Amino acid sequence: MTRPIAALPDTLVSQIAAGEVIERPASVLKELLENALDAEAQSIEVRLDGGGIRRILVTDDGNGIPAGELALALQRHATSKIRSLSELESVATMGFRGEALASIASVARLTLTSRTADEDQAWQITADDQEATPAAGGTGTRAEVRQLFDHIPARRKFLKTEATEYGHCLTAIERIALANPQVSFRVFHNDNPQRNWPATHIHGRIRDVLGDEFEDQSLPVSADQGLIVLEGCTTKPTFARNRADRQYLYVNGRFVRDRTVSHAVRQAYADVLHGDRQPAYVLFLTMDPAGVDVNVHPAKHEVRFRDSGAVHHYVAQVLAEALAQRGGATVGGPVEAPPAPTLGDDSTAAAPDTAHAGNASQDAAPMPVVPAQTAGPSNPRTPSPIYPARRLIQQRFLLQEHNQDWRTLYAPLPAKTGTSADAPRRPQAQPEALDPRQQPMPADLPLGMALGQLHGIYILAQNAQGLILVDMHAAHERVVYEALKLAVNEAPLPAQDLLIPVVFTATETQVATAQEHQDILDDLGLRIRPTGPTSLAVRAVPALLARGDIEALALGVLADLERIGHSARLAEQRNELLSTMACHGAVRAHRRLTLDEMNALLRQMERTERADQCNHGRPTWFQWSMNDLDKLFMRGQ
Ligand SMILES: Nc1ncnc2c1ncn2[C@@H]1O[C@H](COP(=O)(O)OP(=O)(O)OP(=O)(O)O)[C@@H](O)[C@H]1O
Ligand SMILES: [Mg+2]
Repeated sequence: MTRPIAALPDTLVSQIAAGEVIERPASVLKELLENALDAEAQSIEVRLDGGGIRRILVTDDGNGIPAGELALALQRHATSKIRSLSELESVATMGFRGEALASIASVARLTLTSRTADEDQAWQITADDQEATPAAGGTGTRAEVRQLFDHIPARRKFLKTEATEYGHCLTAIERIALANPQVSFRVFHNDNPQRNWPATHIHGRIRDVLGDEFEDQSLPVSADQGLIVLEGCTTKPTFARNRADRQYLYVNGRFVRDRTVSHAVRQAYADVLHGDRQPAYVLFLTMDPAGVDVNVHPAKHEVRFRDSGAVHHYVAQVLAEALAQRGGATVGGPVEAPPAPTLGDDSTAAAPDTAHAGNASQDAAPMPVVPAQTAGPSNPRTPSPIYPARRLIQQRFLLQEHNQDWRTLYAPLPAKTGTSADAPRRPQAQPEALDPRQQPMPADLPLGMALGQLHGIYILAQNAQGLILVDMHAAHERVVYEALKLAVNEAPLPAQDLLIPVVFTATETQVATAQEHQDILDDLGLRIRPTGPTSLAVRAVPALLARGDIEALALGVLADLERIGHSARLAEQRNELLSTMACHGAVRAHRRLTLDEMNALLRQMERTERADQCNHGRPTWFQWSMNDLDKLFMRGQ
């Protein structure tokens, strides 16, 4: 029955190995693009036919391959990128295995044409005859792949329609183009021009690839801890999506999926995004290659961090800071005008907006857009050019000795100093009740002075630029929530005894939950005691919430406790409890507020971090400038 052991023929070995790396045209394309980048190309042209199934042609203007090495380039385990294990451990190039071209050649027809700057002509080789012959061509490399999987019907069967495969190819190009704005990309499909992205800075590339709206809704992220640099942008919670399809994470220039980082991002958004909404972001994490293993996935889609706890801590901190925007801190409000182009950017090539078809142009942006009046110091965007990861790695980690300890990443972020004249004042440590007495001159007030209330839901206010509209409940909820978070650090939360306890009927489970979690509830300033087998009495509530609906507050928190159940998880979920409390403690819609109360709320919003969106990620206020209003009424036209 059993057959004798025999070594597999070389081609079969290659085909089996290729199975892990080459899944579809897009995976071929990714490998070819990475090779072009490793060769320091400045300009890359991609031509696809039939979704890349019939033909993929990648032409670069990089360093080229010397004629004498062309045959080696096609061999398995032959690479110019690493020489030893120690070099593997500090690899800064995209490739290092020396098997991509060999894998491609085993499942398709591959022709390489290349010329280095020293050669006076190009040389060409096909995987079949292994002999380089003279050819026409400039400096750089042309890799042409035809008939993918033609002689492997089993694999060919798994390919989808040309349109689908083309879509995957575009995705692969987009991922690579975002991380390499200094390189220009041109894409053709069946000879029709599809994309043309000139060399630019990162913000230009984000506009070109992801559209104006993405860039307009972005919050800059820029942090450098020595061992780790985190740059790029995340987007406002109000821009969150139902799908996680706009999450671009790069580790040392490589697009990866990583649970540590995505969890850290989610944690940073936990306060402002509930439910399944997904934040959109483009983040570049660049670090000492010694701190990350890139050799864990056949197609290099995953990495392993040496100290993932430290990375998690750092990313969560930096993002939380980026999100901690305060109400009225920017002239533009929740929906702002686009930033000025990146400073210190050596590229003057302006990205033509026409390059991106199908994206909402700036003019078509939603109505409540306020152009930033001045790019003054309060503009939160302090642009920093994103240096492609490789350059940074070489400058920072491979050429210089450093002996920083990974544990330093657990340290809290240093306080930002001198960012602006009106740098965020820390929010008050002590929450305060609505205080009608503070009324400085309207000119210094970002959110202006209240004019009145609309249908008991919105506050209308006027500031120097024009009209402000505030969702009263959502804004107060956020203010109360942030105040509760600050106050709870001095557990127990300052409570106010109720003159007359609020007694209500409850289920046996609710009574049991109240008893079981009595200590936690007391810490939260909620004193709830059973008064019978099916009744509970609230005897004290946090002072901040004394004016809300106390029965609803108690029931909401008990429902949270029942759901969370296990008390070990309570500490983690504390903010969720506080959020429920804030929701019930905040002013209800339809409550009449005096002008003084409205103004006090506006002032609290200005002092509160993250006041631009409510706890559910919806915006809390909008601004229309006089200009916007004039346009609305077609004045002066
Ligand atoms: N576009 C290119 N320009 C210059 N040299 C190239 C190009 N493509 C491939 N090469 C050379 O051919 C070699 C083999 O390429 P291949 O993609 O097979 O392996 P690799 O990039 O070294 O590693 P990996 O398998 O991880 O991609 C490279 O090391 C490089 O020297
Ligand atoms: Mg390669």
